[in-house]
This record gives sequence, C-alpha cells and structure tokens, in this order.
Amino acid sequence: MEGQSNPSPRRSTRRSFLLTGLAVGATAAGSGVLASAIPAFAKTTGGLTSGDAAILKFLSALEILETDLWQQYNELGGIQDAEVPGGDGSDAYIKKLQVLDQDMPQYIHDNTEDEFTHFTFINAYLVSKGSSAINLDKFRNLPSSKATGAQKIGRLTNLMELSVDTSWFTRYRSRTKNPDLGDSFAQAIPGLKAGKFPAIPRNDADLAPDDHIQAIANTAGFHFATIEQGGSSLYPSLAQRVSSPEVLRILLSIGPTETMHFQTWQDKAGNAKPLTDPTNGLVFPDLNKSGSEDTQTNLIMPEPTFFLKRTFPVVSIIRPTETTGAAMGAVKGLTADGLFRGQSKEFFNVLHGLAEAADAARIGD
Ligand SMILES: [Fe+2]
Ligand SMILES: [Fe+2]
Repeated sequence: MEGQSNPSPRRSTRRSFLLTGLAVGATAAGSGVLASAIPAFAKTTGGLTSGDAAILKFLSALEILETDLWQQYNELGGIQDAEVPGGDGSDAYIKKLQVLDQDMPQYIHDNTEDEFTHFTFINAYLVSKGSSAINLDKFRNLPSSKATGAQKIGRLTNLMELSVDTSWFTRYRSRTKNPDLGDSFAQAIPGLKAGKFPAIPRNDADLAPDDHIQAIANTAGFHFATIEQGGSSLYPSLAQRVSSPEVLRILLSIGPTETMHFQTWQDKAGNAKPLTDPTNGLVFPDLNKSGSEDTQTNLIMPEPTFFLKRTFPVVSIIRPTETTGAAMGAVKGLTADGLFRGQSKEFFNVLHGLAEAADAARIGD
C-alpha cells in the first residue's frame, strides 16, 4: 500500500521513461497529480500487477521446460553429482561431445544447474508475492532415452525427434539484417531443420557407427545454442512490459545469464565436425568453406546490424527483442523445433494460455 500512496522516485522515473504520454501529462500537472495518478493506473497492492504475475508465470513454465531438456542432456552428456543428480553418463556420447570442447560435460552440468535455479527462484518469488508457483509435473509423460546412462522417467520435452533451427548462426553474423525489421535468415545446418533427428542417443544402438553418434553430438551442440539464444531474446523482449522495478531487476538479472550460455554454446557449435551421418544422410557442412562471414565459425561476437530503423548507425545488439507477441513467439519456436513432439493437447493449451497472458501484460496493468 505504501507503494501506492508514496511511489518511490525510482518507480516514477521508470514510469516516466516507459510511459512517456502518461508521465509527461502528470509531470506537467505537478508531482501531487503524479502521486495520485499512479495508483489509479497500477492495479498493484503489496503483491504483483496481474501483468507482472503473468510474465513471471510464463517464464517459470519455460524455465521448467528448459530444465527438463537440460536434465536429459546432463544425464547422458554432463556430470552427475550432488548439484545435478540423475543418470550415469554415456561414455561414447561424451567422447563425441568433447570433440566440440573438452569441457562440454562441465558446461552441460552448469547450464542444467542454472536452469533449475531459474524456475525455482521465479516460483519462490511468485509465492512470496501471494501468487502461485507453476508446476508442470502432470505433463511428465514423454519417454526417456533407452540408452545406458539415462534415467527411465517421464519427461516434459523430447530430444529424440528435433528439427533444430540454426538460423541464429547467420542472424548474429549478419551486418544488414534484423528479424525485428522483417528480415529472415538462412539455416547454418539446413539438414537439421529439414528432418527429425536425435540430440541424445535414443538407445545403445545409436552409439555407433562413429559418424552417427558424432552427428548426434553435433545436433546437441547446435541445439544448446538454439535454446539459449531464445532465452537471450525472450527476457529483454518481456522486460519491456513489466511494471515493478523489482520484477524488471529479476528479468534483467536472469536474462543475461541465458546470453552467457548462448555465447559459450555458439563458440562450441562452430567446432562441430563436418560430416554426413551414414544412417540418415544428415549433413554437417564445413561452415568456413564458402568464405562467407554469415557462416564463419569464429565470428562469435554479435556483428553490428540495424536496430529500430535502418537510418540509425548499425549497433551490436541482441536480436530479436520485439516485445509484441514475444511469449507466443518463443512457444512457437520451441514447438517448431520439435521439442514437444508427443505432448498432449492439454499441455499445449496450458502453455498457450500462459503465453497469451504474458503477451497481454501491459505496464501498470
Ligand atoms: Fe533459464
Ligand atoms: Fe537457458
């Protein structure tokens, strides 16, 4: 209630920054008007605005789904310990992941642990504000890998029939295009998007021949970055529509960790061994062969590109960050990648409902 009758300077600063029209009118009329105008605008008490709650609930759901997929990677390709328990590892899979970087098991472990903390924190914060935590346990019905090393439990996500979108690779290397300006981007690994491929061994038969299990590890290497670039865009996209400075702080503090993950993974993806999977024809091309900067593997810093308007000078940025429809865009992207193949209609209804509510959130509402 204190926040309603006596808004902090920081809060009004953010409002005047983001709500130019309202703030300009209120400021012109004097600070007394500003103080009384904000409570009428922001339907918040000690808790969260409905918009902030919707954004946090959606993020919690996505973090739970991220955790589920990373857990599967960690059981077979990471380090199983007290921080990230479950599974026994798969030596043959780990050896091929290590072609991308010797430290892959440690990175997989750490990314998995981070995702656990993301949803656990957001859920705890929701509860602390009188809202409710997100729980997707009833949708843990998808099968586990049958390969030695994986737990045999129900899963939320499917890593065994992926159609991985690798357009982020060319998007972050383009100096002229931005998805927020309507541009589209070529796939770095066109074959991955064109079929359904495992990113973890489905069973022990998948551990040979050599180029088959290497192709599975390569697929994982690209999928890691596909997932984490999504988070890198999602947090800044949604941050533009949160109301509370503290919720903004949460989004601005978690979001860049997704980008730290992405940056690591896009470096490793460039080390994927060029090959053709002898079992299904999936091709991982030599990305440096064409000489084009759009696929040059060591261009891992975001190339500067156009932002907001093509008349501004180019700038190195996260892209996309358009806020309209960002939540549903993320769900559609993950769905198109095949991550939820086999999930129930009810699962999609719940996920779409959370995304729609997040996309309906407005500052102060
Ligand atoms: Fe996360
Ligand atoms: Fe993540």
